[in-house]
Amino acid sequence: MRAMRIDPELAEAGPAPAPREAFRAAMRNLAGGVSLITAGLGESRSGFTATSVSSLSIDPPSLIVCINRASSTLPVLLEQRAFGVNILSAAHRRLAERFSGRTGVAGAARFAGAEWTTLATGAPLLADALATIDCTFETSIDWHSHTIAIGRVAAVHVRPGASPLLYWQGDYDRLAGARKPVDLTALGASEAAARLLCQPAQAW
Ligand SMILES: Cc1cc2nc3c(=O)[nH]c(=O)nc-3n(C[C@H](O)[C@H](O)[C@H](O)COP(=O)(O)O)c2cc1C
Repeated sequence: MRAMRIDPELAEAGPAPAPREAFRAAMRNLAGGVSLITAGLGESRSGFTATSVSSLSIDPPSLIVCINRASSTLPVLLEQRAFGVNILSAAHRRLAERFSGRTGVAGAARFAGAEWTTLATGAPLLADALATIDCTFETSIDWHSHTIAIGRVAAVHVRPGASPLLYWQGDYDRLAGARKPVDLTALGASEAAARLLCQPAQAW
């Protein structure tokens, strides 16, 4: 019988962590852009901080966001059949903390102290976000603790010029040595169109 060799480094590391914890540890390394997901009108507005936003398709323009089924925003979003994705800049850290519920502020009170606007669906949109994506709720998939919501993009507003807020290793962060974002509005129409077309499919 062939002898099995044990890697001494692995042997020293001890038993492998349970998959759940190992998965959590692995995902902490995935740096994510931070958005606010917002829905509802007036005093029934609701929103939360999210890193699970992902582009789904360009044709039709659509995205997904994964929402905890215990979230107070989910019923509002499902009732209104619309939601906003507000991509935050590094200057929005406080807002991200408030919308994560960690400061104890809930419901419409989370919207205080910032300027909000609307585009097509009526979902609240943060006036100075890096970009706002106004979506109609198309459909959803329930997966254990979470609902994957698919949004069809109804309108978009892009406000370039600042660097994004990131979440990495359990804390907020910003890009080091960030290159200046290209302001497409400052370019001529043909140059802006060329740059947009050259962007990878995941970029908006
Ligand atoms: C950086 C960060 C990212 C988060 N991403 C998500 C997410 O993608 N989906 C989600 O359901 N909750 C996410 N959360 C948790 C929600 O923000 C939090 O549960 C919610 O604000 C609680 O609000 P509620 O008590 O009104 O439901 C995230 C929290 C933080 C701090």
